[in-house]
Amino acid sequence: MSARPWWQSAALYQIYPWSFQDSDGDGIGDLRGIENRLDYLVELGVDAIWLSPIFPSPMADFGYDVADYCGIDPRFGTLADFDSLLASAHSRGLKLLLDFVPNHSSDQHPWFVESRASRDNPKRDWYIWQDAAPDGGPPNNWISDFGGSAWTWDATTGQYYYHAFLKEQPDLNWRNPAVRAAMLDVLRFWFARGVDGFRIDVLWHIVKHAGFPDNPPNPDWDPATGEMNRVFQLHSTDQPEVHDIAADMRAIADAFGREGDDRVLIGEIYLPVERLMRYYGLAGEGVHLPFNFQLIDAPWNARGLARMIADYEAALPPGGWPNWVLGNHDRPRSATKRGRAQARVAAMLLLTLRGTPTLYYGDELGMENGHIPPERVRDPRELREPGLGLGRDPVRTPMPWDDSAQGGFTTGEPWLPLGGDWPRRNVAAELEDPASMLALHHALLRLRRMTPALARGSIRLIEADGDVLAYEREQDGERLVVALNLGSAPAPVTLPPGVALLSTLPGPPSDADPTLLRPDEGLILKVDTDA
Ligand code: GLC
Repeated sequence: MSARPWWQSAALYQIYPWSFQDSDGDGIGDLRGIENRLDYLVELGVDAIWLSPIFPSPMADFGYDVADYCGIDPRFGTLADFDSLLASAHSRGLKLLLDFVPNHSSDQHPWFVESRASRDNPKRDWYIWQDAAPDGGPPNNWISDFGGSAWTWDATTGQYYYHAFLKEQPDLNWRNPAVRAAMLDVLRFWFARGVDGFRIDVLWHIVKHAGFPDNPPNPDWDPATGEMNRVFQLHSTDQPEVHDIAADMRAIADAFGREGDDRVLIGEIYLPVERLMRYYGLAGEGVHLPFNFQLIDAPWNARGLARMIADYEAALPPGGWPNWVLGNHDRPRSATKRGRAQARVAAMLLLTLRGTPTLYYGDELGMENGHIPPERVRDPRELREPGLGLGRDPVRTPMPWDDSAQGGFTTGEPWLPLGGDWPRRNVAAELEDPASMLALHHALLRLRRMTPALARGSIRLIEADGDVLAYEREQDGERLVVALNLGSAPAPVTLPPGVALLSTLPGPPSDADPTLLRPDEGLILKVDTDA
């Protein structure tokens, strides 16, 4: 048997460090806080954690504006705290992934401070500088993902610099070999320290068209989706040269990996499936997992989901391992989007599809989008384009651990208010309740780990009617059927003879009727093999 890399059968768990656990009372989560909560994650049954950025940062974009790629922000702790967290994670059998932000740095990064100092500074070409258009305006019509022109005028040196996000996040010039070398060294630095991999921020943005042509206007632009959609990002993203860079990163990850200790690269890429697949690399030399975000926005109907799963599976390149994501720090919470009952069905879907699942912290509790009063808004996305519902604070509220003051998250004033019904829906309360979302996650993750057919078996969609989505997972003759009722009415099904292992509804799954799914029920059934 060839050894499979650990990340194929792993369940990943994203921690937003600002909001997981504060250990020093400043209202902001930190590394010691995370370390103190590792047993919770072991108990939950996840295999690896990914930390959103923890590097020194002015926090204009909450850490996605890095001022030093090889340090730890004092809000989160020290390098010694990081080493301690990593060692504690490893001693519990947990892998740890960091967030690599290669597209842009902070404007406070010493490289940019130099770059903007003068036109002949040696670091000038480390960022993207262009002359004004003939009318003095920006060089082209590219729009920041956070609204407004993506170009900011620098009066000192008389040129514009490009930033796909905030003006405090200037884009690095990856066409410059010195930038490339310096950034690849960042990967080496953390790999040598022992990290197990990276999630790579906005990988598809890294290279822009060398001629900086205008992006084509979007004739169907709906202003409610944000100004960024006024044009198609044809020339500012997803350029062919990005794949060489991904291959360079992959070569480094592979060089650090050992049998049984593989390192993994996961790319954040929001692109249609055909273009997403290119990020595996033509011969598998790209990132291991280009994040597949389709479940987040998928219309919640059985036929549409079945088609999406089939199309994604069919599009995978040879050897390409699938992955699925239900939520992250940028997108609405699953429980808010689907409602509580269907969020349970969605969790069963996430954890039984073929491929590596990524869970977002708090989703295992059924956390909903928090309510953020206007005076407490922190996210620049909301502050720049208010009222469109694009702000991300609601999905970044502190993890509620118990019903004590501030949910046990901090002894101080939390940086964002706790969200939703936290005095009732918190870790301690849900641990006591066999019908809780947390209990469902424990059961799903345990079953997944114990069952090779779920962890790495094949998948086959089963024809079903109405609101029912059904598929079979198989490995070495072991067959499981997953049948999900995406509606709130009873739904007829035809299940093969077998034993019901788990239902999203409370109560023993053995009560399952092989001809009917209850409202909002998801069911996992072990098929009788002699049937
Ligand atoms: C990614 C991050 C997001 C951040 C942006 C800019 O999309 O997930 O939080 O604002 O990149 O770095």
